Amino acid sequence: MNSGHTEFSHIPVLAEQTVSLLTEGRTSGRFRMIDCTLGRGGHSARVLRQNPEARLLGLDRDPEAIARSRENLAFAADRITLVQSDFAHLSQVAEQAGWDGADAILMDLGVSSPQIDDPKRGFSFRSNGPLDMRMDTGTERTAARVLNTYDGKALERIFREYGELREARFLARAVVEKREEKPFETTFQFAEVCDKVLKRSARRGAPPAPTLCFQALRIEVNDELGQLQSALEAATELLNPGGVLAVISFHSLEDRIVKRFMNDMAMKCKCPPGCPVCICNWHPKLEILTRKPVTAEKDELRANPRAACAKLRGARKLQ
Ligand SMILES: C[S@@+](CC[C@H](N)C(=O)[O-])C[C@H]1O[C@@H](n2cnc3c(N)ncnc32)[C@H](O)[C@@H]1O
Repeated sequence: MNSGHTEFSHIPVLAEQTVSLLTEGRTSGRFRMIDCTLGRGGHSARVLRQNPEARLLGLDRDPEAIARSRENLAFAADRITLVQSDFAHLSQVAEQAGWDGADAILMDLGVSSPQIDDPKRGFSFRSNGPLDMRMDTGTERTAARVLNTYDGKALERIFREYGELREARFLARAVVEKREEKPFETTFQFAEVCDKVLKRSARRGAPPAPTLCFQALRIEVNDELGQLQSALEAATELLNPGGVLAVISFHSLEDRIVKRFMNDMAMKCKCPPGCPVCICNWHPKLEILTRKPVTAEKDELRANPRAACAKLRGARKLQ
């Protein structure tokens, strides 16, 4: 179908492993799944095709993702409810949709290929475009606004915490100097500053200089880490006993949050070490299903190099 838009496609990462973790092979029977990050609906389509009785509540903060998923999942139109929302509001979205529980919840974090590949979205330093980087195009904080209005200290914190850049202070200083000549408007303007500041410390085999700077800015624009923490909590509450939470992350900051959260929820006891009897009254909420994160096999990497950083973790809700 040609609906007049430019198409950039997205290949779902770790698709087989994710679907089998979420569904445990079930091909029939009542199954309610929440996809917090629809993208193009790639993972959800597989679940809906595998089980003709499965129902889906799908969220994405990007209106374009909702529109395209609606087309891609049209084969199951009577089994899906799609809502444009960020996943920090998962509980409210579920309540409004009349969902009081779910058998599976998926978060496939970060940006989709269509978002990165479209220069107008401003996510990539490889093509020139406006410094936007908003996943939800209805919000006000763009990457240009962050670079042009945050003070040096705030910029330094973003580059250090979200880009883990040793050169955070130099980069923040260079941004503040540069914007006095001319405000930041385009991805190439920012990429040029990143290249200049990071060139001296570039190491062989390291990702291109602007990669981590763009990642840091994107995390700030979309409050990605704050959103993730809230959504993990909401998802754990919403899961039915026995239901599975699966999270795919693409960088160590996200993966650390997911790993810590799951480990914390799976702890048997939270008493201080050495306490002779248990006084914490804590009951574990999750059982970890992936001791080590699942990563892509060679075949997948050949077909989709973007799967290289993907890490899948899963946990089951306890009674
Ligand atoms: C990697 S893609 C998901 C791809 C999807 N699994 C597929 O197979 O097509 C990530 C999607 O999550 C969305 N997203 C990222 N953070 C979000 C958040 N906090 N709330 C809702 N959607 C989010 C992005 O807009 C993007 O469309």
